[in-house]
Order: sequence, then structure tokens, then C-alpha cells
Amino acid sequence: MKGLTHTAFMEEDVKRGFDPRLARRFFGYVLRYRGLLFGATGLLFLFRVSAIAAPFLTKLAVDLYMNRPDLPFGQRLSGIHWLAFAFMGVMAVKIVTHYCETLTTQTIGQRVMRDLRMDVFRHLQTLSLSYFSRNPVGRLMTRVTSDVSALNEMLTSGVVALAGDLVTLVAAVGIMLWLDWRLTIVAFAVAPVMLVASRIFRHYASHIHRVARAKIARLAAYLSENLAGMKIVQLFRRERENARRFDEYGRDLYNTHLRATFYSAVFFPFVDVMRASAVALIVWYGGGRVVQDAIPLGTLIAFISYVELSFQPLRELAEKYNVLQSAMAAAEKIFGVLDEKPEITDPAQPAALADVKGGIEFENVTFAYDPGNDVLHDISLRVKPGEMVALVGPTGSGKTSIVNLLCRFWDVRLGRVLVDGHDVRQVAQRDLRRRIAIVLQDVFLFTGTVAENIAMGDRAMSRERIEAAAKAVHADAFIRSLPGGYDARVSERGSTFSAGQRQLIAFARAWAADPRIIILDEATSNIDTETELLIQDAMRTLLAGRTSIVIAHRLSTIQRADRIVVLHHGKIIEQGSHAELLGAKGMYAKLHELQFEEGESREGTTAGEGVTAGRG
Ligand SMILES: Nc1ncnc2c1ncn2[C@@H]1O[C@H](COP(=O)(O)OP(=O)(O)OP(=O)(O)O)[C@@H](O)[C@H]1O
Ligand SMILES: [Mg+2]
Repeated sequence: MKGLTHTAFMEEDVKRGFDPRLARRFFGYVLRYRGLLFGATGLLFLFRVSAIAAPFLTKLAVDLYMNRPDLPFGQRLSGIHWLAFAFMGVMAVKIVTHYCETLTTQTIGQRVMRDLRMDVFRHLQTLSLSYFSRNPVGRLMTRVTSDVSALNEMLTSGVVALAGDLVTLVAAVGIMLWLDWRLTIVAFAVAPVMLVASRIFRHYASHIHRVARAKIARLAAYLSENLAGMKIVQLFRRERENARRFDEYGRDLYNTHLRATFYSAVFFPFVDVMRASAVALIVWYGGGRVVQDAIPLGTLIAFISYVELSFQPLRELAEKYNVLQSAMAAAEKIFGVLDEKPEITDPAQPAALADVKGGIEFENVTFAYDPGNDVLHDISLRVKPGEMVALVGPTGSGKTSIVNLLCRFWDVRLGRVLVDGHDVRQVAQRDLRRRIAIVLQDVFLFTGTVAENIAMGDRAMSRERIEAAAKAVHADAFIRSLPGGYDARVSERGSTFSAGQRQLIAFARAWAADPRIIILDEATSNIDTETELLIQDAMRTLLAGRTSIVIAHRLSTIQRADRIVVLHHGKIIEQGSHAELLGAKGMYAKLHELQFEEGESREGTTAGEGVTAGRG
């Protein structure tokens, strides 16, 4: 491992070996299904014991009847018949218990997976937005999918099989010792070599598997980034370059897998050689003893089967180690998510927000996303119920941050944010957010129908209300023209709709929710003039009688605001009505002049000075 990127992507998966604390926690989940677990254990035991019993029956057949010329012919034959029946019976038990055991174990595994997935999903929903800005989506996705599957694999093919293997090994060795301890020692003369070899194999294989896991993660992350950004990739003709990178990662993974294959390709034939040697030793030493009449022939035959049976677990124990290891890595990550505490929590006794009027107050608010890097400085702002306040300012000046604090997606560092006189930290988040609707520039539509997207928070919302909402914001006409109308399917975040159409749906969504406070963030920046007129009118309907904060880059949309607040570098530098601010000849007047000129001369370009002004 060399280079920065290598160490960086390896960090994801550093834990090795068995961690009893994590295992205990995981088995807490398994223990929810005690009944099934009990059943699975019983079945597993029966299955393995029946597998062990078969060679013993062969031994009995040989020693009691086949190899007994002194007994009458009929007695020998019927004895062999009976033992053959018993053999078949044992095989039947083995097959049936194997089937039931697999089914039970898989059921437990799937249930545990469902529980874990649900717990992670629910927990993720409680986490604060700051957590999601620190953790990339792709990584969180693997928590719910592949990490959970890794734990399942450990349970179904790892731990259970391991327990079974141990039962087989102990029982086989026990029977062998009981039959003839000298022959047992000879048979396992190769054991020390086996132990050393499997240790070496485990060491190399576990390292290589860890590296492979990290490389798979890197490949997956690169793939998801490319799929999400396909438009940009094609636009900037990065296909060949990105394919080259992908090929590089892919080749790297290929080499790693080949190396892993190399170790198995050496180890498993080696195990077979050892097994063959053990059988040879049995035949050599045991054969001599049979000839000397020291042990019965049946014992020798049974020994050969038992050696075969006990080498299987030895072979698998080395392999299962990797399963265990990836499961431990997965468990660490999953429980890491579950242990993550939300930064924003509800107070123990939340104040009730009854009958909200919609007054908002920022009291000397200072705020930072990252400690030591304030993005809002001493903001004081009062919005009376029903008032419309516009926020303007250059990009990065802190407009969206103000909204984030009002919805309590983040908490202030100093000062207070009040809604109707209640500090937002003193009320329940659900209660607060129920009163607020936000329409963002990039409208997020969910998979479902248009109607469902409008009803959003309220499954019981009537079709009349949904349609009334759409009508109020002039979305009705375009929705009706869709194939399926209100029941038209929305796919892939609504990518089949235009930005303006998505905006109209978002307006309808906000209208239907009927909040006291409404926030429009950059709601009208990339829309054609005709749609803009519709949206202007929709906005009037939507904002009527509600407190609103409107962030707009196009100053034309906010001229009728009761007050315009100009932000610059996280500070309020001026505020007043449109006319007042123009008269003051400050920043707002300058912005206005720029946009006005631009609107006249070069429609469709962006104003200078890093100011995100009207984009045509
Ligand atoms: N999640 C975040 N983590 C850290 N810093 C952030 C985060 N979001 C925004 N910032 C920073 O906070 C500052 C203010 O950002 P904000 O989003 O409030 O600007 P804005 O006025 O809404 O800009 P725009 O007009 O471009 O939307 C910026 O310097 C930005 O880099
Ligand atoms: Mg913003």
C-alpha cells in the first residue's frame, strides 16, 4: 500500500479480527429469535450427528456381518439388510435436517437483516443535517445494503457452519479415539503441519481480502459518482478519461482478486495432499494392524471416512475467517452509525406551539457550520406575522443559512431564534417544521404520483384539496396535460419534469400543507418569462396571509416585499423597502442597477461581482 489515496481508502476498513463487544451486540439481534435459534441449533446438531453416524454403520456392517465367516449365511445377510436400512434412515434424517436447518438459519438471518436495516434507516432519519454533510451518500448506502448483508453472511454461512464444523470435528475425533487411539494419533500426525499452513494462509488471505473490500468500495464510489454526474461527464467529454480511471481501479481490483485466488489455489490442494497423506498413513499403519488382527477391518474403513469428514471443517475454518473478518468490519460500521447521536435534539419538555401566528425573530445570532468559521455574525431580524421579508445578497452571504437556523436544521452558536416568542430549541422539531414550508430552487420530487408529491406529508389528504392546491398555484393545467394527470408517475427525482414544472408542483405542495410560515429559496431563478408570470401570481396566492421569507436572485420578484434585507459576508448591511433602499444608494441600489442594465442589454448572462443575479 503506497500513496495517499491508498491509505485514505483503506481507513474505511482497518479493524481486524474478532471483537467480542461487537459480536455480543450483533447477537442481541439474533437472540430476538430465540425460538428459531433453538430450533436451528437442534437441527444442526441432528444433521451433523447423522453425518457422523453413517461411517459407524458401515463399520458395524463390515465387522459384525461381512467379515464374519463363522456366522450362518442367513444371519449375515439379514444383518447387512437391516444395517443398510438403518443407513438409509440415517441418510434420510441427514437430508431432511439439513434442509430444515438451512431454512431456519436463513429465516433468522433474513429477519435479523430486516431489523438491522430498519434500525439503521430509522436512525439515519433522526440524525442532524450536519452528519449528512460530513458523510457521503454512497457510504451511507452501503451501511444499509452490503454491510448488513455481510453480517447476514456471517450468521448463515459463517457462525452456524462453524458451529456445525466444530460438532463434526469433535464428534469424529471422539469416535476415532474411542475406536482406536493409536490409529487416531497416526491419522492426525499431519495435524501440526496443517495448523501451521492454515495460519499462514489465514494471515495472507485475510490481508488480501481486506484490501479487496476497500478496492471494491473505491470502485463502487467511483461508479456512483460517474452515474450521478453523467451529464457533466458527457458535456465535458470526460468519457475516455473517466473510463481510463475506472479501468485502472478495475485492474487493481482484478490483480487483488487474482492474488487472493493464488493463496486459495495453493492452500486447498495442500489440504487435499494432507488429507491424502492422512489416509495413506491410516492404510499403512492400520492395514498392518488389521493383518496382525489387532483391529477389526470395519474400524479401518470407518477411519478413512472419519478422516475425510474431519478435514472438511479444517479446510473451512480457514475460509470462514474471512467471512468473520468482513462481518466484523461491517458490524463496526453499522453500529458506528447506530451510535451516532443527533446533534439537534428535542428538549425534554417541549413548549407547545399552539395557534402559531408566524412571528419570527433572530436575536443577535452568530452561527458557524464548522467551529471557528462563523458564517453569520450578530444577525438581528424581526419578521411580524404575515409580513413578507426578502433576503438578498451575493452568493455565500448566508441567506440559506438563515433559513437553516429557522427550521432548526442547525443550531445557533450565539443568540436565539424565536418563532412566536418560543426559542426554536425549546419546541419539538416536528412541531416547528409542521408550521413551515420551504420551496427550494432544486425541487425534490419523490417516486410516486404527482398527487402523492403534492400531498407529501399527509396521506389522508383528499383529492379535492390536492387539486385545489394545484389550481391555486396554476399547476393544474400542466398536470392535467400529463398522461395520467394527477396520477402520472414521477420517476428519478422528477427528472422528466422541467424546472418550472417542478417548481409549480412544489408550490402546490406548500399550499396544500398550509403552513403559517413559508420560505422560498431562489424560487424563481431559472424560469422563462411566461412561467415566471405564472409563478409570480402563484407566489402571491401562496404568500397571502402568511409570514414569508423570500430569497431571490431576481430583484424583480421581491420588489413588493414589505422589507428587503441585504446580507453581505454574513452581516445585515441594509434593510428597508424597495424604494427606501434605492434611495439609500447602497449595495441594493447597485445590485438593482446591475440587473436592470443587464436585463436591458444582455439577457441571459450572469451579473458580475460574484453576485448571483437574474439569469434571464
Ligand atoms: N453544510 C455546510 N457546511 C459548511 N459550510 C457551509 C455549509 N453550507 C454553507 N456553508 C458556507 O456558509 C456560507 C453561507 O452559505 P449560504 O448557503 O448561507 O449562502 P447563500 O447566501 O445562501 O448563497 P447562495 O446565494 O449561493 O445560495 C458559505 O460561505 C458556505 O460556504
Ligand atoms: Mg443559498
